[in-house]
Amino acid sequence: MSSEAQLRVGQVGLGYWGRNLARVFDDVADLTWLCDTSEALRTEFANRHPNAQITGDFEELLAADDVDAVVIATPVPTHYPLARASLEAGLHVFVEKPPAMRVAEMEELIALAEARGLVLMPGHLLLYHPAVQKMKELVDDGDLGEVLVVYGNRQNLGKIRKDENALWSLGVHDLSVILYLIGEEIAEAAAHGHAFLTEGVEDVVFCYLRFPSGKIAHMHLSWLDPHKMRRLTVVGRDKMAVFDDMELDRKITVYDKAPEQPADNYGEWRTRSGDIFSPKLSNAEPLKLECQHFVRLVQEGWDGREMRDGLEVVRALELLTASLRSD
Ligand SMILES: NC(=O)c1ccc[n+]([C@@H]2O[C@H](COP(=O)([O-])OP(=O)(O)OC[C@H]3O[C@@H](n4cnc5c(N)ncnc54)[C@H](O)[C@@H]3O)[C@@H](O)[C@H]2O)c1
Repeated sequence: MSSEAQLRVGQVGLGYWGRNLARVFDDVADLTWLCDTSEALRTEFANRHPNAQITGDFEELLAADDVDAVVIATPVPTHYPLARASLEAGLHVFVEKPPAMRVAEMEELIALAEARGLVLMPGHLLLYHPAVQKMKELVDDGDLGEVLVVYGNRQNLGKIRKDENALWSLGVHDLSVILYLIGEEIAEAAAHGHAFLTEGVEDVVFCYLRFPSGKIAHMHLSWLDPHKMRRLTVVGRDKMAVFDDMELDRKITVYDKAPEQPADNYGEWRTRSGDIFSPKLSNAEPLKLECQHFVRLVQEGWDGREMRDGLEVVRALELLTASLRSD
């Protein structure tokens, strides 16, 4: 395959998020098939994408001879069976996060993709956000000094969900970024939360993670909160950085603040507070960058990093869910 336009994509799931994916894949690839069990959505998308074939039967899409890759944007419990069927049909897969609800299932998908030489990319959108890429650069270049703590705040009043809790609905975003920034496997995971509105569905969840190097992370996830917060803070030994996705043009702020122990201070700690600056970021659309990345992996080959990172997110979700259930 020599150009992006030649990757032929079939997409299943045309709901709230699927319509965004279809818009972008129509731009960066050749969207040949669309599939949804909803007849109303099929009619709407037939008008919007007259060149694509439309079906309510996923098997028909899998059997088509003009599909190279499948994009899956259906509800989470359906990801694993649809991704498995797609890989078994010899097709590359882009699947919304998380690709599976259990580690064993995710491992099975990875084994299938590896055995058949296919791409399996989970849709961890935030990893393609220019602000997250900048945070990674700050961490990896040592600008912040040794990273000590990373914590995420993802709170709002709503959207109240009844089928997945705050950890699965909101936490998956922060987990993908925290694991990406820290780059270590989890040594310890604990979660506490409570279901106030719907039995068994935690509306408020607090998570704690510890890593082998001693770094720790925390997530406050809630749809019962007066503040809309989409914020990630990295505390380094030398500087601290905050990614605030609610800010329009100051998404990242780097604080030259840190504790220090001057030689003339008899071992006492004091704090230093220097400049505060905000690096310039590209305003490229994260979703477009994510979809282009998938097309590039299929066209240029890959080493499987994205699916192994996806496995770590599923592992974290499994560990945190077990802790939450034993709470
Ligand atoms: N990356 C992000 O920021 C982001 C944001 C929102 C949602 N999502 C993810 O996108 C996925 C879809 O979420 P949504 O909010 O669009 O849900 P949705 O309910 O609005 O849409 C899901 C669609 O899938 C269809 N569907 C379900 N099972 C099907 C099947 N077997 N065959 C064909 N069609 C089927 C439904 O009819 C529905 O139209 C979820 O995995 C969600 O986690 C990601």
